[in-house]
Amino acid sequence: MKILQVKDQQAGGRAGYDVFAEAVKNGAHVFGLATGSTPISIYDELKASDLDFSDKISINLDEYKGLPGTHEQSYRYFMNEHLFNAKPFKESYVPDGMADAETETKRYEGIIDANPIDLQILGLGQNGHIGFNEPGTPFDSLTHEVTLTESTIEANARFFEHEDEVPRYAYSMGIGSIMKAKEILLVAYGAAKADAVAAMIEGPVTEDMPASILQKHANVTVIIDEAAGAKLTNREEIVPFV
Ligand code: GLP
Repeated sequence: MKILQVKDQQAGGRAGYDVFAEAVKNGAHVFGLATGSTPISIYDELKASDLDFSDKISINLDEYKGLPGTHEQSYRYFMNEHLFNAKPFKESYVPDGMADAETETKRYEGIIDANPIDLQILGLGQNGHIGFNEPGTPFDSLTHEVTLTESTIEANARFFEHEDEVPRYAYSMGIGSIMKAKEILLVAYGAAKADAVAAMIEGPVTEDMPASILQKHANVTVIIDEAAGAKLTNREEIVPFV
């Protein structure tokens, strides 16, 4: 794993942009995208750049079950707002939260297989989840319906008026689906992510810490700020990004 430490989220946006630009230069065609607050500064850099995605494909990690793409808290809506409206792709796939679970999860995994992901961006849950793959999710899981944990519901409640409005289920790429990507960029900021970052990089590879599987992937870059990296013990591995 390559670990880049940035000053703040804005610098992380530039570091992340560099990873995207390099991938584009090397012919990447399919981009796995993520929601959450973390990737926003990267999307801002992409929007401000002259990178052209109009002949490229994006495939998002996950979507809340039961929310249509027009709902302001749906991940489709988030992606339109933060990236696609300003920087359109030829095709942008996001799971359809209104579709039946069995049909939709199969359809979506088929999309991933037909369009192998060149670069997948990931955020990190405080409990180590990637996409919506909560602790305990099998490493070989494919796109599936997920029951969100209480901690994830609480963490996401800030975006809704009441906690009861936060969906309890989602469709998410599985860990096996994510691991098919040729290159992975994981980004995490802030002290709340420090335990998960340390466990992901230095802890045992275990299904109790979904992100730890990335230790087994051949091409991973991690972007962190100082607070998120505070609990790493092997400091020599950390490369400052300037
Ligand atoms: C949600 C998303 C994840 C994201 C995580 C962290 O649960 N499904 O993909 O990584 O939140 O979000 P944030 O970046 O806002 O901390």
